[in-house]
Amino acid sequence: MIDIENMSNRDVIEEQYKNTDNLTLRKSLHDKYSVNKMGFQKWMFQQYPFRKKGRVLELGSGRGELWSYYFEDDTLQSYEMELTLSDFSEAMVDCIRNRFSGRNLSVKKIDILDIPFQEGTFDLIIANSMLYHVRDIDRGLSEVRRVLKRDGLFYCSTLGTNGMMQYLYHALDELGIPYSHGSHLSFTLQNGMELLKKQFGKVERRDYEDALEIDNVEDYISYIYSMASLQGLDEKYHDVLRNYFDARKVNGYLHVPKEYGMFVAGDA
Ligand SMILES: C[S@@+](CC[C@H](N)C(=O)[O-])C[C@H]1O[C@@H](n2cnc3c(N)ncnc32)[C@H](O)[C@@H]1O
Repeated sequence: MIDIENMSNRDVIEEQYKNTDNLTLRKSLHDKYSVNKMGFQKWMFQQYPFRKKGRVLELGSGRGELWSYYFEDDTLQSYEMELTLSDFSEAMVDCIRNRFSGRNLSVKKIDILDIPFQEGTFDLIIANSMLYHVRDIDRGLSEVRRVLKRDGLFYCSTLGTNGMMQYLYHALDELGIPYSHGSHLSFTLQNGMELLKKQFGKVERRDYEDALEIDNVEDYISYIYSMASLQGLDEKYHDVLRNYFDARKVNGYLHVPKEYGMFVAGDA
């Protein structure tokens, strides 16, 4: 049985991110087949209100994807910002340290549930595509609120419940492949506003329009097998899935919907 509650099961998430392979594989599908060529990371990056001075923390940084834009930008490089990137996975922390070695930043192993900084330390906190992994989401968000300055801002991105996952679950239903239902995503575009409003006075949602147009369905099948939420998906379904998705191509392309966006939260 595939357990989609895995998305916020601590052991499964730690296993999923014990190295960068799964993340790299999934990123390559988005890079290759996304209709919106700007890219989600770049879209997000362009919205951050960096100031000449200030302390910035990213939680769940993964491979530190966002920060290549930062280090390529001469104006931002002239700022005296203090940047801390973090993740609770040792492998991600090592990856970021290697990727940006010699750059002016701190890299720390941090779990959002217990952020090792004092009250009101940061001007800007970023958490992308990671809050849905946090089972005790209220505690995670209250930790963010605690270490953010009163006039600071929290930018967090997440998935919606009408995107790639639901498209896939619909396919599994149609094919009769069993998986268990549950409240698998703790933080989505649909419930994020309500959760953030428990901690912040002002919350705004911003959506990123996109979809995948896939010609080589094998790439999509590899993506499916790399997902934390589908661990336990038997290899015997590989061909069944390929035939199913091949049959759904229109003019040579499989259209897979995406629903991504971000919230901006603060009190000022
Ligand atoms: C889907 S990846 C997103 C990575 C990156 N933010 C991005 O947008 O490309 C989720 C990341 O969150 C990290 N993560 C999951 N739970 C966490 C927690 N409780 N505290 C800190 N990091 C966590 C994982 O190790 C992983 O690197």
